[in-house]
Parts: sequence; C-alpha cells; structure tokens
Amino acid sequence: MSDTFTQLGLSPEALDALRRARFARPTPIQTRAIPPALEGRDVIGCAATGTGKTAAYVLPLVERFAGKKGTLGLVLAPTRELVQQIAEPVRFFSEPRGLTHAVVIGGEDMAAQVEALKERPTFVLATPGRLVDLLEAGAASFPNLQALVLDEADRMLDMGFLPQIERILAALPRRRQTLLFSATLGPDVSRFAREQLHQPARVEVTRSGTPAERAEQRLYLVKPEEKTPLLLSLLAADEATALIFTRAKERADKVHRALQRAGYRCAVLHADRTQNQRKQAMEGFREGTYRCLVATDIAARGLDVEEVGHVINYDLPHAPEDYVHRIGRTARAEASGMASTFATQREAATIARIERIMRAKIPRRPVPREDPVFQAERERLLAAQRDPGPPQQAQGVSQRAPGHAPGRHARTHKPRRG
Ligand SMILES: Nc1ncnc2c1ncn2[C@@H]1O[C@H](COP(=O)(O)OP(=O)(O)OP(=O)(O)O)[C@@H](O)[C@H]1O
Ligand SMILES: [Mg+2]
Repeated sequence: MSDTFTQLGLSPEALDALRRARFARPTPIQTRAIPPALEGRDVIGCAATGTGKTAAYVLPLVERFAGKKGTLGLVLAPTRELVQQIAEPVRFFSEPRGLTHAVVIGGEDMAAQVEALKERPTFVLATPGRLVDLLEAGAASFPNLQALVLDEADRMLDMGFLPQIERILAALPRRRQTLLFSATLGPDVSRFAREQLHQPARVEVTRSGTPAERAEQRLYLVKPEEKTPLLLSLLAADEATALIFTRAKERADKVHRALQRAGYRCAVLHADRTQNQRKQAMEGFREGTYRCLVATDIAARGLDVEEVGHVINYDLPHAPEDYVHRIGRTARAEASGMASTFATQREAATIARIERIMRAKIPRRPVPREDPVFQAERERLLAAQRDPGPPQQAQGVSQRAPGHAPGRHARTHKPRRG
C-alpha cells in the first residue's frame, strides 16, 4: 500500500496544496480510492467517520478537471451545513488550479445562485431540494458533467431523498463518473450501484457501520425524567465541548433552554430555525463561542468540527445507522472523544439494532444518581412539578405557526427540501 501522496499519481500542484493543508500522508480511504477515481472509474467508498473521505473525492476530481472549462462536477450532500463545509476543501484544492465552484442550498438567495450557475462553475455543491428547484426553474443544466458525487450516499438514496435524486439524475449525462461515499452503506446503495454504476471499484476500508475507533462509548439506562440531570452531571465533569442530539426539534429547544438555565453557553440547530440562526449556531460552535450545540439529526452526518470532546445522545436516533454518524462527530482524524447515550428501558430493541449495525456492544455505565449535580437538577425538576408557577411560554411545545407544514424528522418518507 502506498503511504505517501506522491505514490498515488497526484500532480506536483496537488502535492504542494497537500503540504499547505498539512496532510502528511494519505488516510487508508484516500490511498485506495484516489487511484481508481483518477482513472475516471466509478467508486463506492466505505470508511469510518472522520477518516478523510472528502479529500478522497475532491483531490482526484480537481486533478481530472484542471485546465478544463464548464460545469464538470456535481457533489450532493444531505444538509446545508455539510454542503457549506465541503466547499472549504473544494475551494482550497481547486482555486490554485484555476477552478471554481458554486454552493446551491436552501435558505439562501436563489437569484444569487442562478447568477452563480450562469458562470458555469467547475463544481456545483448542492443539497438536492434546492437543486431540484433550480432545475425546475430552468436555471441549472449539466450538459458537460463528468462526475457526480453522493456524499453520505446511503442517506442520499433513502426513501426521503430518492425522488429528488432521481429527478437530478434525469438531468445528468448518462455517461459520467459516479462516486459514492459513506461510513454506512446499505441495500439502497447496492441497488443504485447495480442500476447506475459501471464496474465500480469497491473500496471498503472498514465494514459498513464500524464506529470511530477512538470514540469511547457509554450507554446509560435512565428514566425519561433522569435525562436532564444526567446531561448536566456529564457536562459538569469536564470542560469539553459537547454536541447533544435529540430526536425532534421541540425537544432540542427544550434541552437548549435547560442548558441555558444551567448557565451554559449553547446554541440550537434544527430545521425550524432560520438560515441565519443555523449559520450563527454552527459558526459559534465551530469557533468555541458556544460550548454546547443541541441539534436534531441534521447535524448527525459529515460535520467536521475540531475538538468536539463529547457527543451526547439525549435521545436515540430514528435510524440506527445514524448512531454511528452521530458519535462520529467526535474522535475525528487523530482526535479522541467520548460518546454517551441515554436510553430508557422501552428502547432496548433500538439499542439492539444499533449494536447489530456496529457488530459490537455499547458498554453500559451506571447512572451517577449520587452525584450532587444530578441530585440538584432532579430535585429542581420535582419541585417545579409540585409548583409549576406561572405558565411559561411554549414549554416543550413546538412553536410552529398554524398552517405551517408539519416538522420533518430524520427518517421521514416525504421528500426533503435542502
Ligand atoms: N490525509 C490527511 N491527513 C490529515 N488530516 C486529514 C487528511 N485527510 C483528511 N484530513 C482531515 O480529517 C478530518 C476528517 O475528514 P472528513 O471530514 O473528510 O472525514 P469523513 O471520512 O468524510 O467523515 P464523515 O463520515 O463523518 O463524513 C478533516 O478535518 C480533514 O481535514
Ligand atoms: Mg464526510
């Protein structure tokens, strides 16, 4: 196996950019996926979270497109935040080669995106919902497209996204390179590969569902009313930044309020927040303005935030494979981290499904019921129950306006909008 980028067939310009990025040597997925991708072959790449799958497709595409004109590459990813993040390495590796890109996501000015597409950027990076809108409006076309990437391929091909992906595929040249990447690949991906890919190189660095190596997992079996006391107790134990997942938007808001009340600098990220609020939450968390970010599964996949010390599953994910993605927000690249999961007795079957996907048990930990922080919050909640006080605004209730579409959860069967 090659252990330097030089041996992968990359140009001197790419090697120079890699030095500037301080990527000393390729990760295993980069070693094995870059050569076939450089040859123009289709690739299905599976490797654990945080192991450099992004550069495994960005580097070969930049090499292939250098010196050429027109929109040649389309990268699709499931969330706005992830598309914006992918734009960073795309910019870093492609700008010095004279290549351009445009970001096409929901929540941002569509007219500006129409203008950007008119310039025929080399790369279009998009969430499916907004790209479909632009296709329908006749503002996007891909006559010369050479490569399509589905990042988080299994999510992109699940029932929620598939109708939009099919609409997009119908607008792309049939002869093209297709690259699929994820830490979890399932039957949807195999079916798609059979129908759409041409003799793909299958690169399986780790089996689908293998969790991040250095994420220390712990499972706490709790009563529902013990979740917030346990959360506060874990946060009080150290200073680590924490990404906290809930199963629904209104629960994210509720946990966010509980953390604010406890004095934590924290933000909340879910699909009912405005684009500005989403941006501000994400940037503040990246920069360390907030120690905690409370989020739904829109933050489960792909997001690469340095030094997330702790992932806390306040609620279990809807889709068991998202457990692997959620805990993969910590222990990325060379880092390590902690992943704590709260589950109630009734959720034993979901835990079993998650453990089947990982082919490993999550170590059980006793709930620290004697911890003073745990006890103080428990007592505070009990006292609040006895004396609810004046009615508070929208406690634990969705603040959606009447007539607003019902919320979209992680595993809806309705089409998603990016
Ligand atoms: N060869 C390399 N050397 C050092 N760092 C690298 C290398 N390749 C990637 N990285 C860094 O590792 C981090 C994780 O990479 P990336 O986000 O591509 O992971 P991923 O495999 O896509 O994870 P996920 O499954 O969560 O999306 C990024 O910060 C990236 O800059
Ligand atoms: Mg990724």
